[in-house]
Amino acid sequence: MAQLEQIAAPGSEWWRSAVIYQIYPRSFADASGDGIGDLPGITSRLDSLKELGVDAIWLSPFMTSPQRDAGYDVADYRDVDPLFGTLADFDRMLEESHARGIRVIVDLVPNHSSDQHVWFQEALKAGPGSPERARYVFRDGRGKNGELPPNNWESVFGGGMWERVTEADGTPGQWYLHIFDATQPDFDWTNEEVKEEFRSILRFWLDRGVDGFRVDVAHGMVKEAGLPDYAPVADADSMGGGEENVPYWGQDAVHDIYRDWHKVLAEYDGDRALCGEAWLPTLKKTALWVRPDEMHQTFNFPYLMTPWDAKALGDVIRESLDEFGAVGAPSTWVLSNHDVVRHATRLALTDENPQGEGIGPNTPNKPDTKIGLARARAATTLMLALPGSAYLYQGEELGLPEAMEIPDEFRQDPTWFRTNGERYGRDGCRVPLPWEADAPAFGFNETGLSWLPQPSDWAAYSRDTEEGDPLSTLSLYKELLAARREHGFGAGSLVWEDAGKDAVAFRRGDVHVIANLGTKPLALPAGATVVLKSQPFGGADLPVDTTVWYTTA
Ligand code: NOJ
Repeated sequence: MAQLEQIAAPGSEWWRSAVIYQIYPRSFADASGDGIGDLPGITSRLDSLKELGVDAIWLSPFMTSPQRDAGYDVADYRDVDPLFGTLADFDRMLEESHARGIRVIVDLVPNHSSDQHVWFQEALKAGPGSPERARYVFRDGRGKNGELPPNNWESVFGGGMWERVTEADGTPGQWYLHIFDATQPDFDWTNEEVKEEFRSILRFWLDRGVDGFRVDVAHGMVKEAGLPDYAPVADADSMGGGEENVPYWGQDAVHDIYRDWHKVLAEYDGDRALCGEAWLPTLKKTALWVRPDEMHQTFNFPYLMTPWDAKALGDVIRESLDEFGAVGAPSTWVLSNHDVVRHATRLALTDENPQGEGIGPNTPNKPDTKIGLARARAATTLMLALPGSAYLYQGEELGLPEAMEIPDEFRQDPTWFRTNGERYGRDGCRVPLPWEADAPAFGFNETGLSWLPQPSDWAAYSRDTEEGDPLSTLSLYKELLAARREHGFGAGSLVWEDAGKDAVAFRRGDVHVIANLGTKPLALPAGATVVLKSQPFGGADLPVDTTVWYTTA
């Protein structure tokens, strides 16, 4: 750990200002060559992350799982799925990351397990009223013969939120709750055994040396008592980002769980951290997740969902700094992850951009990738100048767009299946990374296999192509991360500047940052010396969809 401690600024915990890179293990690098990425693949590519300049990595789930929701359906929380390797491979990856000064956060999925988890299998066998069923949310159905689901809740992935089981004697029986796929039964978090089991799972990974956890669906773990009927006003797929007072999102009792976990992490040295995945309707509510005795960070989804509009962007940054600041927590910033359309595509959508719908071959009016990339580079150049911790999603440093032409027969997201193809879902942001332009599967592995097809024009985005190009998105990210570190921008505060209604502008010490979100070039102040720009341009005016960092004499 000695080497790691030096990374944090003196007197502050590392996670307050860290740049954390999300690895989606299925799609990062595939050492075994079976078409699905793995832990040895990650280890083999750690040097590229060191060169990029990130402080930490967060790994989406690699635990034992039937992969019905790409690993977010865990059957054994204390082991590695053979698809990804072994526990020994995990330990090696962790050690090699730490040796490079990179911390490691793992994904914890406490809202639900896989239906293949031993507890759920026991619950099925044990029958109604048993302690085994009490670990999950089983209820009798409504209707004369219990043939109707216990309430009207709708799954985030489409369809109902309840599945009926067949009892041991062959008769139709109780129903169990699943916010997501039917293969992902929700735990009952009022159950002491569930609480104790997860404390023990936290310790299992903390003992191995992980630096923290990204907590999946942190806002869904507690349901309102009595499970009252509820008809969503916003889309059911908004994961709670859309509205207040939903009986399965953001219930107050979730905070007791985080306070409990906070204490578990505090038993360990090295500032271990919890980051909540909580889609909540307001930043005020989101900030409650990170009060001093709860989680350390939570994703800033209101920021991610903000459209490319100067007023909206300025407002959300202001509000984030105010609300998180009010509870003494750093704001976090994020533009892409494995659940949303990649921001190099999303920012060129012209309508509102609800997360989760996805883009596919039949989507009308596909966004313009050139505009999207310019905006994405501008958005990131602004984001990495903000105080707080920033999350990057693998591939955004290459400027990868959403893969919009995946043929139907390759689709894997349960959203696609549960909505009978009505919603494309998230496969388009999960396609394996291109590493080398001229290698099989663009260097993802040596066999050329790939669990989702890579677009044929991705050679242009491959890491080796971009490495040789000083104007590439990869070069921009490297420059940004180095400059952010040099200026200490992860910590401290900003001073707002007025640059008109089409710009977002602020100052960090001697460095001014301005983004042009309008439709006309903006004049930069006389004497401005540009130190960093999101795209090349000549002349004194700042082009549209461009951000610069500049100083004045
Ligand atoms: C949020 C995860 O990010 C997403 O990928 C997953 O499908 C759901 N939670 C269910 O675990």
